[in-house]
This record gives sequence, C-alpha cells and structure tokens, in this order.
Amino acid sequence: MINLTINGQEKAVEVDPATPILWVVRENLEMNGTKFGCGIAQCGACTVHLDGQPVRSCSTPISQAEGKSITTIEGIADEDGTLSKVQQAWIDVQVPQCGYCQSGQIMSATALLTKNPSPTDAQIDAAMAGNVCRCGMYGRIRQAIKIAAGIEQPTTKETIA
Ligand code: FES
Ligand code: FES
Repeated sequence: MINLTINGQEKAVEVDPATPILWVVRENLEMNGTKFGCGIAQCGACTVHLDGQPVRSCSTPISQAEGKSITTIEGIADEDGTLSKVQQAWIDVQVPQCGYCQSGQIMSATALLTKNPSPTDAQIDAAMAGNVCRCGMYGRIRQAIKIAAGIEQPTTKETIA
C-alpha cells in the first residue's frame, strides 16, 4: 500500500512501488487530465508536480511520491473553481490546438512562474524546452506565460500569431 497526498487529498493505493506515477494517477485515481505521450521522459505531456517541482510522471515511480505532495492539472485551480492565472492566460490566448500536450505545458509553466514570477524569454524557453507541442503552439505558449506573469496584456485572438 502506498500512501499519497494528491491535490491536497490523502489517498492510499495498492500498487507495485515501481509503478509510474502516471499510471496511478490515470488508472487508480481516475484523473485523466495528465496525458501519456512518449512514455520515455522525452515529451512532457505527463508533467505533474512533486512538492512543486515538475516531474515526468511516466518515468517516475510512485514510490518516489510517498511522503510528498503530487499536484496534477486537476489541482491547480482554486477550491472554488477559479482558474489559475496560467489557466486563464491559456484561454485568453487560445493556446491549444489538438490540446494533447497542454496539461503538461500548463504544469511546467506553473512551476516556472512559482519559481520565477517574471521570466525573460530565454528563461521561458529554457524552462519549457522539455515540453513538446506537435501542433507547434510555442509562440502562444510563451505569450500566455507572459500574460500570466503580468509582463504582457491579453489581446484579441485575431491578432495573436
Ligand atoms: S509521456 Fe512522459 S515525457 Fe512523454
Ligand atoms: S496543442 Fe497539439 S500537441 Fe500541443
């Protein structure tokens, strides 16, 4: 039995300690916002936070989460449902195309802004480099991060490249 704290709630799951966090989150806890992409720590689609640090949940065993706090995309809005600044900026900029990579992108962006509330373009690019978007929405992702940081203001959808 593994005892977890996930999105502020305590859970106990009966799994092999080597099971990746991603399987536990999706299969045992039925939180499907975190996505399976490559399965080999290369794409970032599966990004969750472990004590606030972004980790690749496809390649991190659940044993490493014992005694720590997991946060998934389901846990970053306020308890009353108010979206986080990053989530709201993602909507304002209309970042997603297919959407598949986006929960991982948002989790990495959230971790970045927690650590560095006013990042430069280079710092954004460095922090987000491990998150692949096959739809190529990198420009909008960077813009949404700047809006969430208060560095830029939202503009109309039509003017965003
Ligand atoms: S699915 Fe985990 S990094 Fe790609
Ligand atoms: S929005 Fe499609 S992969 Fe990123």
